[in-house]
Amino acid sequence: MKFKYLLVKDISDYIRLITINRPKQLNALNAAVIEELHRALEEAENTPVRAIIIMGSGEKAFVAGADIKEFMHFTPEQGQALSEKGHKLLFDYLEQMHTPVIAAINGYALGGGLELALACHIRIASENARLGLPEVSLGVIPGYGGTQRLAQHIGKGRAMEMILTAQPVDARKALEYGLVGSVVPPELLLDKAVETAEKILKNSPAAIGLAIEAVNAAYGKDGFKTENRLFGQAFATEDFKEGTQAFIERRKPKFSGK
Ligand code: CAA
Repeated sequence: MKFKYLLVKDISDYIRLITINRPKQLNALNAAVIEELHRALEEAENTPVRAIIIMGSGEKAFVAGADIKEFMHFTPEQGQALSEKGHKLLFDYLEQMHTPVIAAINGYALGGGLELALACHIRIASENARLGLPEVSLGVIPGYGGTQRLAQHIGKGRAMEMILTAQPVDARKALEYGLVGSVVPPELLLDKAVETAEKILKNSPAAIGLAIEAVNAAYGKDGFKTENRLFGQAFATEDFKEGTQAFIERRKPKFSGK
């Protein structure tokens, strides 16, 4: 299968590594990356592959978010559609796969990047990782499942604090929060992910698929639909225009009052 933005490599007969390869844009998730990830994951789900590792290319970022430059001029309808399509193709799809997916977080995991890691079944971070949902600093909200999954992982209070302050946490704090399962030096990140995958390979693939489905069954879907709608609603605000423009111009945004 040919990809423009992904590198796909089999580490062994049953372990597949998918690397998001857009390092100059810190692996930001544009529509094409999301489509390609869907295709790559769907393909892996339908082959003998029994564990998937996702990481970002380069030394700086796992994924720095959804592609701000792509959506900054979207209408509210396009914003909502972006969120809905992302959920369907990538974030919900991944979460419900029967093949376990491990996020190897090698640097920034911000916005859609943290949301991607949250949809994965297991998260391992390198010591230099920084994880956060900075969307409100752009005048928008997390739109790829973050408003729901972050609270599921670390509890409502901590999720509110991370989302409302827009401040990332470092790897040590992420471990303390239970946001990641382990933290290792950057040069050992892939080894640790492979070691974890090998532990999975010792178990029944059928039972693993059923276990994923059973764990996921605890979490309702209504909140995700609300996120889609409110993500779109944010696109109607002057703050969204100002926040995204300020990002491009590398300045601090001047948001309006309430
Ligand atoms: N979208 C588009 N481009 C991005 C990007 C993003 N999310 N993150 C980084 N880039 C681009 C930068 O614009 C820059 O491109 P140019 O060289 O073409 O200008 C390149 O990647 C390198 O980035 P920086 O020069 O900014 O690198 P830095 O080391 O100074 O800063 C950073 C790194 C702190 C991660 C900073 O890039 C940053 O803050 N990025 C945005 C993070 C963010 O806000 N993410 C949330 C996105 S919104 C979202 O995800 C919505 C959703 O839930 C659906």
